[in-house]
Amino acid sequence: MEYKELMQLAEEARERAYAPYSHFRVGVALLSTSGKVYMGCNIENASYGATMCAERTALFKAVSEGEREFSAIAISGAAEGQQGSFCAPCGICRQALSEFCSTECAVILGDSDNLKVYTMGELLPLSFRLPD
Ligand code: THU
Repeated sequence: MEYKELMQLAEEARERAYAPYSHFRVGVALLSTSGKVYMGCNIENASYGATMCAERTALFKAVSEGEREFSAIAISGAAEGQQGSFCAPCGICRQALSEFCSTECAVILGDSDNLKVYTMGELLPLSFRLPD
């Protein structure tokens, strides 16, 4: 799948964000090595700490469906009414993703007209892992 198409799915997922507190909407499209796409959005809560980020929504959906490896993730995030988008994943999501994404996994940021492509290794060097 083209990165542009994956970002378009992330933008579609962003429309389903539930963000009445921050008004910052995030959507994700996560591509498994089996070729399936899992979408996710941020889901906020009146008890703010119970909020779930879009990246982990998509990751946990996919892992709970049996996926264990991913080749790319597109992330679209912006404040309501803002033009364009550039939303890098938070630290907790980087750590959660690193459990299932290799250092080569593509992390696609920006928007579908202006993609910025990174790797997991660039976003989270020296990631924590338990020894084999
Ligand atoms: N958020 C995400 O969904 N992903 C990130 O990587 C950063 C932050 C959400 C959480 C909260 O609903 C809103 O963006 C503002 O922090």
